[in-house]
Amino acid sequence: MTEKKYYLTTPLYYVNAKPHIGHAYTNVLCDTFARYRRFLGEDVFFLTGTDEHGTKIEKAAREQSKDPRTYVDEMVPQFKSLWETLGIQYDYFIRTTDEAHKKSVQNILKDLEAKGEIYKASYKGWYCTPCESFWTKLQLKEGKCPDCGRDVQELSEENYFFKLSKYQDWLIKYIQENDFIRPEIRKNEILGFLREPLEDLCITRPRARLAWGIDYPNSKDHVVYVWFDALINYISAAGFMADDKKFRTLWPADLQVVGKDILRQHAVYWPIMLKACGVEMPKLVLAHGWWTMEGAKVSKSRGNAVDPIELVKKYSVDALRYFLMREVTIGNDGAFSEDLLAERYTSDLANDLGNLWFRFTSMLEKYFAGAIPALEKTGEKEPLLSASFKLWEKVTPLMVAYDPREALAVVWSVIVMANQFVEEKKPWVLAKDPAKKAGLSQALAVLGEAVIHIAVILLAFMPATAAKILERSQLPKEWIVKTEKDFARTFLKSGTKIERGEALFPRLEEIK
Ligand code: MSP
Repeated sequence: MTEKKYYLTTPLYYVNAKPHIGHAYTNVLCDTFARYRRFLGEDVFFLTGTDEHGTKIEKAAREQSKDPRTYVDEMVPQFKSLWETLGIQYDYFIRTTDEAHKKSVQNILKDLEAKGEIYKASYKGWYCTPCESFWTKLQLKEGKCPDCGRDVQELSEENYFFKLSKYQDWLIKYIQENDFIRPEIRKNEILGFLREPLEDLCITRPRARLAWGIDYPNSKDHVVYVWFDALINYISAAGFMADDKKFRTLWPADLQVVGKDILRQHAVYWPIMLKACGVEMPKLVLAHGWWTMEGAKVSKSRGNAVDPIELVKKYSVDALRYFLMREVTIGNDGAFSEDLLAERYTSDLANDLGNLWFRFTSMLEKYFAGAIPALEKTGEKEPLLSASFKLWEKVTPLMVAYDPREALAVVWSVIVMANQFVEEKKPWVLAKDPAKKAGLSQALAVLGEAVIHIAVILLAFMPATAAKILERSQLPKEWIVKTEKDFARTFLKSGTKIERGEALFPRLEEIK
């Protein structure tokens, strides 16, 4: 028996422009899920990568007078470096130009042809020359290109088609009977789309029109359609038809995160491709919404792309990670504005969390020379302590249900409680009265446990900040907490020196 890993995937990013906040969002979400599962002791395989074929890329390369191969090789490091900046701990980075992937796509196509799932036919459509896009009549908007609104030309081509329509009834039933697409609103959208007859999918492009793609196995004149090529990455990276043992440990994927704009490919084409290959369905496709500005999706082509690197420089990586996850519920759109980020930074990070750390460590320094006092029975009864001990129990089901926003809300409720605890206990008053020394040491012992429990639970969300707190408290940065009991206990040893260090989140006035 091989152990199944927890396998999660991000979409593969097109390399025709540098990544923006929308791309950062998907990978931050996935990274947080991956880190949380590792924290629970699961064996995780986190896949991300780049989508490098097709018209968009060929065109972008041409605009820079580069051959596509040179162009993609130059673009990929920008993605890898952003993931490094954002602390994205992926296990494998796939490029659709990898030889192993190309081979896998070709093997799958041969297999599907042999099974009679693919046929050759003449295809009539409307072509928009400036966009280099081929449209069906239904897709046209008032007879014009739906992307740019310009005139289109009618064209006829010989291409290879994949029999999507054959599986329509099966797919509808599968979606209805399984928790396969979330959120519900997107599941219903897909079911709505499936009420109309599905057209078979044209999976090649004539080489005369597009040369930058994977060679179609039995034809010199065709390359593989970029979506058919790219979707296969999820199984080619997992060793499908190449490494059975690896494939058994990974597939079916546990979670495939995508933006709502590419749900149809992942919830219609992809399951049918897998079904035709005789491969199990991924467990869940989770579609998130868009980051928008002034109502429009943030994107390179709209010219409103927000550079995550700039935001990290100004606000820190954890501030950006926190903002992206806290500001919107997965599935909904979120209006991006730097003012909102600055507001969250000041209120939740500098004031709530940063201030809690500052107050705790300053008082510890002042009254106990930085050494944490022992926790006695009186301290154990404090509601703040039990709330801190319960963090794992409350956050874990939310993270298993992919709700990081609510999970962070739970953590922040304890941070707020800890700050109130300080206000109520008034350690500075207790410190003036030698008879209240025990009360003072219990207040700080409880506060210390609260802070450490908060840091441990935040490891997956804000790894750099959590690590700072743990390091300054002489505790390890790597944690595996498998059970509620392992978390509902004290973490600090009395007498441990805790170092205040620099502010976790300096005031914006100081960094601007
Ligand atoms: N290459 C395809 C995916 C192939 S997966 C086999 C693609 N690439 S993309 O670069 O255009 O988009 C990648 C992901 O980024 C998508 O999930 C998309 O939804 C997401 N985002 C792009 N802009 C976005 C926002 N403004 N907001 C949130 N996410 C968005 O599609």
